[in-house]
Amino acid sequence: MANVVVVGAQWGDEGKGKIVDWLSERADIIARFQGGHNAGHTLVIDGKVYKLNALPSGVVRGGKLSVIGNGVVLDPWHLVTEIEKIREQGVEISPETLMIAENTPLILPIHGELDRAREEASSKGTKIGTTGRGIGPAYEDKVGRRSVRVADLADEATLTARVDRALQHHDPLRKGLGIEPIDRDGLIAQLKEIAPEILKYAAPVWKVLAENRKQGKRILFEGAQGSLLDIDFGTYPFVTSSNVVAGQAAAGTGMGPGAIDFVLGIVKAYTTRVGEGPFPTELDDADGQRLGERGREFGTVTGRKRRCGWFDAALVRQTCAVSGVSGIALTKLDVLDGFDVLKICVGYDLDGKRLDYLPTAADEQARCTPVYEEIEGWNESTEGARSWADLPAAAIKYVRRIEELIDCPVAMLSTSPEREDTILVTDPFAD
Ligand code: IMP
Repeated sequence: MANVVVVGAQWGDEGKGKIVDWLSERADIIARFQGGHNAGHTLVIDGKVYKLNALPSGVVRGGKLSVIGNGVVLDPWHLVTEIEKIREQGVEISPETLMIAENTPLILPIHGELDRAREEASSKGTKIGTTGRGIGPAYEDKVGRRSVRVADLADEATLTARVDRALQHHDPLRKGLGIEPIDRDGLIAQLKEIAPEILKYAAPVWKVLAENRKQGKRILFEGAQGSLLDIDFGTYPFVTSSNVVAGQAAAGTGMGPGAIDFVLGIVKAYTTRVGEGPFPTELDDADGQRLGERGREFGTVTGRKRRCGWFDAALVRQTCAVSGVSGIALTKLDVLDGFDVLKICVGYDLDGKRLDYLPTAADEQARCTPVYEEIEGWNESTEGARSWADLPAAAIKYVRRIEELIDCPVAMLSTSPEREDTILVTDPFAD
């Protein structure tokens, strides 16, 4: 039985929400495997808008199991608020429909404080432009072996020991940044209060997934952010703090790599980025402005204006390779309607040398200038197209050229936020 991983193949905000929702109807289990509530997934179902951060998109569909895997960092207070909000919209959430891996590290209030204090203390050029939600510091504590994890909430002695261990590290750091020391007893009391709200969903997720897989259940692994924000393969250090690439779906839930049958890369028909960092095809002219306006490019979590630019085929070819993408879902093609000419970046010029990938060294990245190929635009509307026949020839040419350049086929094409406005080429769940 096929299991599918969905990953963003650019800098996030590729329109994963709609595609994940579309696929989740065909899945039995929907699992998050990295990131945290830095993600913002917007789902539009029958005209109703659901905004999710930490919860897997499957929660809004009845009869599915939603899973938060160990690769995620979880803010328990945020989760409880998010659950309440979604419940108010008429969605049922119970321990039968939501499970959280017991080995998931928690994001504590001290992580958000540290994240924001560091950003404030950074000068231009060193600021990351984080969401300020404590994601980085929480992952640092995970690999530093001083996290409070979900299972620790069940035993007061363990919880206290974990908090003390974190304090040892954090208090000197806070002092250096001019933040008052941690209120140890207050933090422990807060954790004890929230514990039952989280523990009711705690489960050995690796085991539940293994059993379900044996029974032939279909799993949809829902990625957050995008591969260019991956801690290893992204534009470091302007990245998020987790592995975003598809391979993480296995480690971030407790399954073997053989559990992944199809990797669907979500790719926007142009490029956007929020936060700081390199962006070779960024446009600060009228074309960039037009992309931002037509694409309504504002961050769902922070409300920040997204930076916009032409499609970068060299970068997407790279992310498709590192995630082993089987096929892409191309989104927001309609935003390109009405451009006379479109540009696609096919590689870079570095000191007179032609490269077909973005080098890793920061100084080389800064010296890379995009090499563009121009392609004819179209005036017709592609919004809401549901078959190839609904698309103008120039739009089909643009899509086909992208496939060639990124060396990966289009499996799906999305032409509006509505789930029905999708052209399906290959069903990722077909076995
Ligand atoms: P952090 O994940 O909050 O540490 O932020 C690190 C970088 O990742 C910043 O550039 C953020 O803007 C970016 N980022 C984090 N989550 C998302 C997302 O869901 N979409 C787009 N960018 C994101």
